[in-house]
Amino acid sequence: MSIMSSTHPITGRITKPLVAPSILSADFAALGSDCEATIAAGADLLHLDVMDGHFVPNVTMGPALCASLHRRLPDVFLDVHLMVTAPTLYVEAFAKAGAGHITFHVEADEDPADVIKCIRDAGCTVGIAINPPTPWESIEPWLSEVDLALVMSVNPGFSGQSFIGDVLEKTKAISQRLRDDQRLEMDGGVNLQTVSDCREAGCDLLVAASAIFGSEDFATTITALRGA
Ligand code: DX5
Ligand code: ZN
Repeated sequence: MSIMSSTHPITGRITKPLVAPSILSADFAALGSDCEATIAAGADLLHLDVMDGHFVPNVTMGPALCASLHRRLPDVFLDVHLMVTAPTLYVEAFAKAGAGHITFHVEADEDPADVIKCIRDAGCTVGIAINPPTPWESIEPWLSEVDLALVMSVNPGFSGQSFIGDVLEKTKAISQRLRDDQRLEMDGGVNLQTVSDCREAGCDLLVAASAIFGSEDFATTITALRGA
């Protein structure tokens, strides 16, 4: 399933959890330097939350922003999380803009098989996401086809919301069904209080927006999120 180089952070076995700052809580007027600071502080990759105002009640960022970040930080892996109704409309543009990985939602209005093919054809690794109320069985038919499963632990739309602990049970169920070369990503309300539950449930890719960008010392926070 590995379609990228051996340094690709999504594929292949890993020994420690990866930490991905979600740039949604960065200062958009100082985005480049904010992102550089998280990488200097030990972040493994950057998570871009793309919202279309239809799938979720917020509008955030598009391919132009992704391209600018890629130009500024060409060696940094970009993990694009599409919270949009029609993901295939945007896949090629984000791939051209430097995305290395693209995750779409099973709740989007498109056939997951078509979206998976579209993302692979664009040269990116593929993730499938589920919202908090969605049962894990809804992604089961596609689990073997993707590189990553993303469990939303808040209802998507905004950073800074509280972690929904009920998702931990289905996270464990998904974890048991993933191969060693597949990642399990938790996104929403991940902070120093909730992160150990996420790791114990099997998550090896931890997204945090407010917990990182709202902290005094990015390096201390990122190290603590990753765990011992
Ligand atoms: C939520 C986004 C998350 C969000 C996380 O809709 O998908 O990535 O930015 O924000 P925090 O970590 O503040 O909950
Ligand atoms: Zn996200």
